[in-house]
Amino acid sequence: MSDPDFVTVGRTSDLAPGEMTYVDVHNTPVCLINLDGTYYAVNDTCTHADASLSDGTIEGDILECPLHGGCFDIRTGAPAAMPVVTPIETYRVRVQGDVVQVALVEP
Ligand code: FES
Repeated sequence: MSDPDFVTVGRTSDLAPGEMTYVDVHNTPVCLINLDGTYYAVNDTCTHADASLSDGTIEGDILECPLHGGCFDIRTGAPAAMPVVTPIETYRVRVQGDVVQVALVEP
């Protein structure tokens, strides 16, 4: 099986634990999250309506949408609080040295 198409989105020093940021991966909006030193990537557009999740907040391992307060499990993308009922897409992340890369495939 060939390697998925990893795209460099930044360096580990760009994102402290507990922080997240918007990145673009092949024109797909992605929210990159540093959760206690482990990186996760989810689609940046909330599945409830058109809100950017990277403008939201992190509470533990939960990502809260800024628009209506819906929540997702950062690790799995599963809905964690209403009004969200549809999971968010999650993507594969790898760290090569100090470079953070995302591929638009399931982790
Ligand atoms: S747009 Fe995210 S909860 Fe409504």
